Amino acid sequence: MGLGVAECFAAAGIEVILTDATPELTREAKERLVRRARGHADAGLLAESAVGRAEAVETADDVAGTVASADLVFEAVPEDIGLKQEILGACSAAAPRDAVIVSNTSSLPINDLSEFVGWPGRFCGMHWFNPPEWTPGVEIIPAAATAPEVVGWLVEFLRAIGKRPAVVGDGPGFVANRIQNALFLEAVRCVEEGLASPQEVDEVVRSCFGFRLPFFGPFQISDMAGLDVYENVLDVLKEGLGERFEAPQSLRKLVEEGRTGTKSGAGFLQYTEDEQERLLIERDRRYAALNGLLADLPPVDAGSGGGP
Ligand SMILES: NC(=O)c1ccc[n+]([C@@H]2O[C@H](COP(=O)([O-])OP(=O)(O)OC[C@H]3O[C@@H](n4cnc5c(N)ncnc54)[C@H](O)[C@@H]3O)[C@@H](O)[C@H]2O)c1
Repeated sequence: MGLGVAECFAAAGIEVILTDATPELTREAKERLVRRARGHADAGLLAESAVGRAEAVETADDVAGTVASADLVFEAVPEDIGLKQEILGACSAAAPRDAVIVSNTSSLPINDLSEFVGWPGRFCGMHWFNPPEWTPGVEIIPAAATAPEVVGWLVEFLRAIGKRPAVVGDGPGFVANRIQNALFLEAVRCVEEGLASPQEVDEVVRSCFGFRLPFFGPFQISDMAGLDVYENVLDVLKEGLGERFEAPQSLRKLVEEGRTGTKSGAGFLQYTEDEQERLLIERDRRYAALNGLLADLPPVDAGSGGGP
């Protein structure tokens, strides 16, 4: 992850200094970074100038030398709380007092990590997704101690380099991993129960409801479908599959109040009359464009057979 983020920062014209566990690993990391940028440029995904920027990334032999004059310290060591403590402690001891320090942790509580940082107001979670060069979304997870201006600065910084940050709370798995794993668990259950093969589940997810996800999230999608419809479907799912499909109180309340989604002008979100009219045609324009892209870039033909 660290290399991908370094490539992304460098391509955006940011001055980057890289370090790894040993000088030898740092040297290898720099070589891999340049190869990676070269591969992307050769595939036509990056401008040639980005390779030069990757080549210009500096290295340092230890944490102190890396962060001594940093504005932003990005920590991406393995997911081990003891190692995070050691590295975040070293970063906060050596970085300038006003440097912002972020951790790319996927699962460790940000509040726990903030205790390893001196002046924790400058510390925050910054969770990227693989591959970091191309995935736009980044979760920003403030700790209780994080200064609001640090959160604002990180959001602006990420937007300025073309990312789409979302500020989320410090719960288990934050937001993305929690939702992604709920989907994954049901996918595995469908296979275990013999409803579909892994390939068929992948096809259904990708081509049915997943087809919408580049443009709409679960709230926009359920508002468009109708929250009353969702409530009915959830009641049937609960009947067959148990309590985990119980319709949430907030959904039942919206339906009771007649706020059934776009058709009523409000659901989880609010829609002006103009938005109600525009939404469907704008949706269809995007779906048609996506179908065109999929025709140009057919599904990756990899993975067959198997199953648990
Ligand atoms: N792999 C993913 O898809 C992914 C996605 C989001 C977030 N993350 C998070 O990013 C972090 C890194 O994950 P990864 O998959 O890139 O791990 P990785 O094992 O591929 O890379 C970790 C790097 O840290 C280096 N390292 C180990 N000890 C070090 C030390 N003492 N000082 C400096 N560098 C040291 C390793 O040599 C290695 O280069 C973790 O917190 C992980 O949860 C990973």
